[in-house]
Amino acid sequence: MEKMQAQEMMSGLRIPEMDELGHFFRSLPTSTLVGIGALTAVLAYWLATRPRPIKPPCDLLHQSEEVPNEGGGRRSMMGDPSKLLTHYHDDARTMYEDVPWKKHILLYLSLTPTLFAQNRPEWIISELACYTYSMVVVPLYDTLGPDAIRFIINTAEISTVICDKVEKAQVLLDNVQRQETPCLRRIILMDAFDTDLVECGKGCGVHVQAMQEVEPPAPEDLSIVCFTSGTTGNPKGVMLTHGNVVADFSGFLKVTDKVIFPNQDDCLISFLPLAHMFERLIESVVYCHGGRIGFYQGDIRLLPDDMKALRPTIFPVVPRLLNRMYDKIFNQANTPLKRWLLNFAAKRKGAELSRGVIRSDSIWDKIFFSKIQASLGGRLRMIITGAAPTSPTVLGFLRAALGCQVYEAYGQTECTAGCTYTTPGDWTPGHVGAPLPCNLIKLVDVPEKNYFAAKGEGEVCVKGPNVFKGYLKDPERTAETLDSEGWLHTGDIGKWLHNGTLKIIDRKKHIFKLAQGEYISPEKIENIYIRSEPVAQLYVHGDSLQSCLVGIVVPDPEVMPEWARKKGLIGTYKDLCKNTVGAILEDLVRLGKAAGLHSFEQVKNIYIHNEMFSIENGLLTPTLKAKRPELKEFFKVKIDRLYSSISM
Ligand SMILES: *[C@@H]1O[C@H](CO)[C@@H](O)[C@H](O)[C@H]1NC(C)=O
Repeated sequence: MEKMQAQEMMSGLRIPEMDELGHFFRSLPTSTLVGIGALTAVLAYWLATRPRPIKPPCDLLHQSEEVPNEGGGRRSMMGDPSKLLTHYHDDARTMYEDVPWKKHILLYLSLTPTLFAQNRPEWIISELACYTYSMVVVPLYDTLGPDAIRFIINTAEISTVICDKVEKAQVLLDNVQRQETPCLRRIILMDAFDTDLVECGKGCGVHVQAMQEVEPPAPEDLSIVCFTSGTTGNPKGVMLTHGNVVADFSGFLKVTDKVIFPNQDDCLISFLPLAHMFERLIESVVYCHGGRIGFYQGDIRLLPDDMKALRPTIFPVVPRLLNRMYDKIFNQANTPLKRWLLNFAAKRKGAELSRGVIRSDSIWDKIFFSKIQASLGGRLRMIITGAAPTSPTVLGFLRAALGCQVYEAYGQTECTAGCTYTTPGDWTPGHVGAPLPCNLIKLVDVPEKNYFAAKGEGEVCVKGPNVFKGYLKDPERTAETLDSEGWLHTGDIGKWLHNGTLKIIDRKKHIFKLAQGEYISPEKIENIYIRSEPVAQLYVHGDSLQSCLVGIVVPDPEVMPEWARKKGLIGTYKDLCKNTVGAILEDLVRLGKAAGLHSFEQVKNIYIHNEMFSIENGLLTPTLKAKRPELKEFFKVKIDRLYSSISM
């Protein structure tokens, strides 16, 4: 590194011209010479310390590529092109092995055991395993006679015997058959045995198992069942194996390993729910590499204090928190001039960012951003956002202001957590990055919404070792989500950008997530609100960049004036459309509450429109269904105004 800097400095000074410079210097008066000397020193200093861009791990204009025979599926440019990444470290292929401080092998046993074997490693392994689970060990001597064995098993009420040889197991089974040791229920054998012994055990109610069966998990073993809230019906239990989690974990690691490998100095602030895979996955990456994790006090309002005390280097967040930070920064800049300066400074740093330079020591940091950085502890290396899309404005500003690497992940629990990730060096907002090295991504036609894979648009489908095994006890919904070729159908509509990154543009169904990650089914809400007496038609709007819903309401011209009169509001229909906002909103919220809507499912503001949605004005389909994209476009200005009135 130092050598490289020196070389760059030298080439900056153009050595071949040194002789000429020498002549030049000798003919100059001393003061000028000193001046030039200073200038040279400054130049050398600048060359040595000038900010360097992060070197991207692949060509940023080519961040993914199509693989043959996978229906247009695209893969990451990182890792082995011939196969998907399943693990990063050879000795961490399960989440169990992922924990570095745990050194001895453990066995999982649920019954009180005894040990009946000659000296061999399995003896000690079994003993330590028992202690781990607070079990008492009762060893049996090889030389004990049959009477003594029966006496010990009965006296100590032994239900499990771990033994080395088939012959010993047979002796134990004979005892049970003669009903002399009725408490014995399980024999775990170190040596190989055949099915006769298993059958013999079954005959007298003893479970005969191989030692491998009670050993730590293998990658294909189930590690977690993570229930997701879903949009309709009961929660779905996403079954994830150790291999699933390790593959996703490795995917994240592989993308960033050249620029930001986690190490012992890393420290993560843990406040997002650990019940979500996203948080758990990032934490496991940190502790696998010896880093530390600090847990917040449990009150999100005190997070800034926790950040200052802990000074974390890794900060997993959700967009809502980034939005809040952004709003707070701009609210504190309380004059138009201050806001202008803040934006100006962010633009200057944004220009550096577009060259790949990330730093926190520029003049703009010193003047404007160092305070913001200090409020987050001042040591952040990496922010990771996921769970919902982040607005490009917020992401762009914070990338500039915070001076650390900000990554965006996209995915869902069904692919463990992430399936795409920002490529280091591509700090442009407006997309969710490229496929992780552990999975392929393809887009599938959604003709009813006019998306076609041939045009680079369609439903996002994911395949790879990080894709789940199905929903627990729910083959029907599993089949809807996971097809026979192993592709997970996400329900999100994506679009490939020309440089191989993916942009999420829509949902297959009319379902979206608010900025805080809550699912909204607008039609469900409309079906409740439509019961409001004065309301004829309505459209509930929200999107993943907003944290609340707003509505467009068309009152019934026949019913509304009379309804309003009872509330003391008088006027023509058109007049009333202006001054019944409060009364109608109140009625909608009342109905919503009665129907059990969550507060985030309620509209926070409405606009009252005095013309019905119709086929003629293009807002209804011929079957009289709302044309949602058209409604959104038609009322765009009103919707924007509703949101800005809420945030004030
Ligand atoms: C990738 O393409 C998108 C869309 O054209 C663009 O916004 C983005 O800046 C590009 N990224 C890079 C690193 O060039």
